[in-house]
Amino acid sequence: MENYVGKVAVITGSSAGIGATISKELVKRGMKVVGLARRLERLEDLKKQLSNESGQFYSLQCDIRNEKEILNAFEWVEKNLGGVDVLVNNAGLMQITTLSDGDIEKWKTVLDTNVLGLCIATREAVKSMKKRAVSGHIIHINSLAGHRVVPQVASTFNVYFASKFAVRALAETLRFELAHSKLKIKVCNISPGYVEHTEFLIAGGATEIPEFVKNASYLIPENIAEAVVYVLSTPPNVDVSD
Ligand SMILES: NC(=O)c1ccc[n+]([C@@H]2O[C@H](COP(=O)([O-])OP(=O)(O)OC[C@H]3O[C@@H](n4cnc5c(N)ncnc54)[C@H](OP(=O)(O)O)[C@@H]3O)[C@@H](O)[C@H]2O)c1
Repeated sequence: MENYVGKVAVITGSSAGIGATISKELVKRGMKVVGLARRLERLEDLKKQLSNESGQFYSLQCDIRNEKEILNAFEWVEKNLGGVDVLVNNAGLMQITTLSDGDIEKWKTVLDTNVLGLCIATREAVKSMKKRAVSGHIIHINSLAGHRVVPQVASTFNVYFASKFAVRALAETLRFELAHSKLKIKVCNISPGYVEHTEFLIAGGATEIPEFVKNASYLIPENIAEAVVYVLSTPPNVDVSD
């Protein structure tokens, strides 16, 4: 990852789970990481934990469902750090309800966070990379849920699968769009299966661990952070798209 030492990564959903762990890993490897999330106190804790590492962590409160807050965050990065080299679109969630009798506010929360928030953050990162003609990297933390509907949770995950299928299509569409504009920005979709040691189920309103998750060994956030590091370590002639 030598090319990215001292460069700037924006990571959405940096206050917990996978996003917090990716943030730690990139700071340890010398990057300037700007962590975005709603829970500022969590970001401040992370900042303290990382104060002796070779890179730096900056915490910015930002609700990814709010365009103005996203614009403010990217403006801060531009003014204070010069611009964005890497964007990790990690903020995401599931909200337990159904499709057949569902709560539209929960559907909207999921779609606004997982799809529209990701699109707005991506747009702002591309603008910044384009302006400075950098060979940037945009990584979407997608899910196996973006490749297939998992029957064991289909009755409670409602629009989550559709939101992650959308993320996969958005990555592919962006890749073509950037190639058409001859921009040297790589786009990668990382799709984990179930990841333990996150707040994903609790944040979604689950009161118990789904049966299929019990008594099995699953991924941990460090595994996903390692995948991000690998993707960022690839030379210019290697493009890991999925
Ligand atoms: N855990 C899994 O099994 C799994 C598997 C595959 C893919 N994924 C994906 O991995 C990503 C991270 O999930 P996780 O498992 O690490 O869950 P998590 O522990 O619940 O973390 C989710 C993160 O997203 C942030 N977030 C949620 N809504 C936000 C909003 N409106 N604005 C800004 N930040 C927001 C949260 O921060 P605040 O609450 O502080 O805002 C938190 O930092 C998601 O995209 C998820 O779909 C998870």
